[in-house]
Amino acid sequence: MFVSSSPISEQIERIASLKQQRNAVILAHYYQEGEIQDVADFIGDSLELSRKAAATTADVIVFCGVHFMAETAKILSPEKTVLLPDLNAGCSLADGCTPEQFGQFRAQYPNHVVISYINCSAAIKAQSHLICTSSNAVAMVESVPKGRGIVFAPDQNLGRWVEKQTDRELVLWPGSCVVHETFSEEAVLKLKAAHSEAEVIAHPECQNHLLDLADFIGSTSKLLAHSQTSSAPEFIVLTEPGILHQMRKAMPEKVFHEVPGLDGCSCNACPYMRLNSLEKLENCLINLSPSIKIEEDLRLKALAPIKKMLELSK
Ligand code: 13P
Ligand code: SF4
Repeated sequence: MFVSSSPISEQIERIASLKQQRNAVILAHYYQEGEIQDVADFIGDSLELSRKAAATTADVIVFCGVHFMAETAKILSPEKTVLLPDLNAGCSLADGCTPEQFGQFRAQYPNHVVISYINCSAAIKAQSHLICTSSNAVAMVESVPKGRGIVFAPDQNLGRWVEKQTDRELVLWPGSCVVHETFSEEAVLKLKAAHSEAEVIAHPECQNHLLDLADFIGSTSKLLAHSQTSSAPEFIVLTEPGILHQMRKAMPEKVFHEVPGLDGCSCNACPYMRLNSLEKLENCLINLSPSIKIEEDLRLKALAPIKKMLELSK
């Protein structure tokens, strides 16, 4: 059964009652539409969301995010039903790193430790020794003894930033995020000139030349936390603009500027994250579908490096 659109307030009430009936928890990433963030039980960055998914006592996890996030939840909690409102919500980083090509790539470095960013499929996780997120990538690389080679995939921008922070050389898989690759440097410079008191805060998936303009770099949760503790009255935010919803809610007295893409396009919004909607969220709770399925053998292989990350970042 599928419901069609109806007034938002009614939809929100129906979602709340379905959530109770199903003993479900709604987890949402900061890049979701504001109205989805507002019905979520928990909003967080990739690391916090995977911790929540591992710890919840709910029978059903509705993951308002993208496929690799819901898949990670299923890997951590196989006994639970994990729903993704739109199964097509992928990620350019995950989709651009296929298991066959990655297998050939890492085979060139048989003695290297393989660290993969959580933005990858279960099949890539299964080929990795350790997983990282944007909030712990530096610590995960530093957990590997100096002198040992590291293959880092699939985000080369995050990898380059980690290289700088750790003063280590990594073998980088040449992937990138379609959203963080599109920010216009010219637009950042114009915003800086027009708002001289503003701090530039950036996600490490941005390209190097943009990170060079940043006063603070961190995961989505770290950007939110930094804007709360900083004394700056204004911020130029170099990441997907969904995060501005929480920033403006938490700090109505501060001003947050989003950065447009090249040529002023609105491609700063993640096309995958934005596939989810309140309507699809309600429908997945009614139908308990689409749900994430994963073969047990693959799940166990992908679980080992995720567990290692969670242990190392306690
Ligand atoms: P976070 O680690 O900040 O959640 O980033 C995830 C992501 O997909 C950024 O594009
Ligand atoms: Fe993937 Fe980029 Fe979207 Fe994050 S913003 S989910 S890295 S495509």
